[in-house]
Amino acid sequence: MRWFNRCIVGILPLFPKSFVWIFSRRYVAGKTLADGVEKARSLNAEGCLVTIDVLGEDISRLDEAEQAKRECMAVLDAIRNEKINGNLSIKLSQLGLKIDPEACYRNVREIVQKASEMGLFVRIDMEDASVTDATLAVYRRLRTEYKNVGAVIQACLKRSREDVQQLIREGIAHVRICKGIYDEPAAIAYKDKAAVREKYAELVRLMFESGSYAGVATHDKILVRRVLEHVKAKAVPNSHFEFQMLLGVTEKRRADLVARGYALRVYVPFGEHWYAYSMRRLKENPAMAGHIIKNLFIRN
Ligand code: FDA
Repeated sequence: MRWFNRCIVGILPLFPKSFVWIFSRRYVAGKTLADGVEKARSLNAEGCLVTIDVLGEDISRLDEAEQAKRECMAVLDAIRNEKINGNLSIKLSQLGLKIDPEACYRNVREIVQKASEMGLFVRIDMEDASVTDATLAVYRRLRTEYKNVGAVIQACLKRSREDVQQLIREGIAHVRICKGIYDEPAAIAYKDKAAVREKYAELVRLMFESGSYAGVATHDKILVRRVLEHVKAKAVPNSHFEFQMLLGVTEKRRADLVARGYALRVYVPFGEHWYAYSMRRLKENPAMAGHIIKNLFIRN
């Protein structure tokens, strides 16, 4: 079945986007901010927190970065006006990091400043390893002025233990820990699933031991169980961490954690650039394509 699912994902780009949308809509709130707000509202009603992300791919001009900034600002307005219990996630490449780091910094600073005035939080997603240093540099600079901003560390990168320890030493480890979605070379990244899981657990442990606020972003049931065991054994207060999951993924596990009283934040992406995002998600889990095909053709 695996090869079949991989084949489906492999040939999806040959189909019209309207067809691919059938596969994508579970991972994406929709194409407009109104879609994002509606999804955020329904997740809030289920007891989940949200983080809203304006989908965007690599840009090549600074006016596109300006546009992305305006869209992020609009999300902040919507969160406040619609009384959404949530925050904003941003990607620095979308805001100009690879074109002009200084212009990118100004864009992000404006967003974080506005969020700060509104009492809202901004998470800076982590992209591929070519921008890890630049992303952390922007984060450090922002933290000299603002507290309402956090970073992301990827457990698959060999450097990440040192990065987390350094952020802890600096007193700015407000970090989401994730496995890392980018396919990095073996020279800088663990390639073995079990090794990544071990590193993940280690990073979360470091965060907990330092008393830093951790975003535990994983759907991995073994990791969720290990984190909960650690929480229980070391009496980590619930106020020191939250689970985080992607929209459309392991919804039952999500509901279970919410029912048990844990904070759980759902990553809610929306926007015109839904296509590239959902292709990444489907490549990550080709089995999902198989399930969707089955649901399309087999009616119970
Ligand atoms: P793993 O990939 O082992 O998945 C565990 C189980 O979850 C699978 O067995 C399957 O059941 C289910 N699952 C996972 N992905 C699925 C999918 N697409 N469809 C259906 N089921 C799926 N990465 C990054 O590099 N930078 C970032 O900033 C972020 N940000 C981020 C925020 C949030 C809230 C989350 C949850 C994740 C990220 N990621 C990320 C992505 C992350 O690095 C990682 O690629 C995915 O979370 C998958 O890793 P898991 O830990 O879930 O384990």
